[in-house]
Amino acid sequence: MSQHVSLTRFLIEEERADHINADLRLLIEVVARACKTISVAVGKGALGGILGDAGTGNIQGEAQKKLDVIANEVLLEANAWGGHLAACASEEMDDPYPIPDAFPRGNFLLLFDPLDGSSNIDVNVSIGTIFSVLKCPGDVQCVDTQAFLQPGSSQVAAGYCVYGPATTLILTVGHGTHQFTLDREQGSFVLTQRDMRIPEETQEFAINMSNKRHWEAPMQAYIDDLLIGKEGPRGKNFNMRWIASMVADVHRILTRGGVFIYPWDKKDPNKPGKLRLMYEANPMSFLVEQAGGASTNGRSRIMDIPPTELHQRVPVFLGSKKEVEAVTDYHRKAD
Ligand code: AHG
Ligand code: MN
Ligand code: MN
Ligand code: MN
Repeated sequence: MSQHVSLTRFLIEEERADHINADLRLLIEVVARACKTISVAVGKGALGGILGDAGTGNIQGEAQKKLDVIANEVLLEANAWGGHLAACASEEMDDPYPIPDAFPRGNFLLLFDPLDGSSNIDVNVSIGTIFSVLKCPGDVQCVDTQAFLQPGSSQVAAGYCVYGPATTLILTVGHGTHQFTLDREQGSFVLTQRDMRIPEETQEFAINMSNKRHWEAPMQAYIDDLLIGKEGPRGKNFNMRWIASMVADVHRILTRGGVFIYPWDKKDPNKPGKLRLMYEANPMSFLVEQAGGASTNGRSRIMDIPPTELHQRVPVFLGSKKEVEAVTDYHRKAD
């Protein structure tokens, strides 16, 4: 008998352990199936006609790529008829998408960044999909925006898929963070790492340094200290990596540690950060905390933030626990 544990088997065992119910199991299976479809499209590259601009924009003020739109449609289409969801929300849609009346409605809400790392699509660099699952709150119409405005600590599942040299799915249902790799011949995700652990300390940081002049003073001071290296207050040398796909940068951190930072910057003082709380920061924070890491907005825990808007943005500091504490301290001391 094969020693491989498929995603299907893993989820059935999670259900038997009472970590998820059957509806959530099937919902995760549907999301994984949609990611496989997106992975196939990504793999075709220029031959699949998926590169380039869609010629439209989203509520974030970004020009949409063809693949942003395609991935969004794949996720909606795959999830509409399953019967597990009340509604979906996406980086690429202004408002929540209620499950059409033609299908039964379930008790979960699905939020996603259908295609993360859009600037890397046309240059053949790793991109991905990020998702977050919430339960319908009892007291509001489950299809309204208000139903989605729950803190990250209320998530019942979160994950991301990286479309890279291999397609990998990283998942948490609140009992550890686990990695699955797509077996392209079999067409199924296979468990390749149970309980990923992020080392508490690191000598690697990920940030877009070109924004340095726009950062707050404590942010600049922190990076200056890292750059001094061994002779400076941190007493060690640091290496830098920046892929510009959050999925790929976070995946490196889950694999070998590091700190990922997208701070507030004054390029657009009205925006509290670039990354989105509901589609990016919350699901990634859940995965990172479940792997022993930490995640803050520079001052406090991301998953404690009460959301006020569906497309809310937030500064993000996540990864190796001690390093996230160090950079958070720089900010707290400056306040
Ligand atoms: P998206 O492609 O979903 O809009 O997200 C892009 C994000 C994130 O993936 C990445 O970390 C960051 O934007 C990169 O930003 P810069 O281009 O400013 O480096
Ligand atoms: Mn975008
Ligand atoms: Mn994104
Ligand atoms: Mn996106």
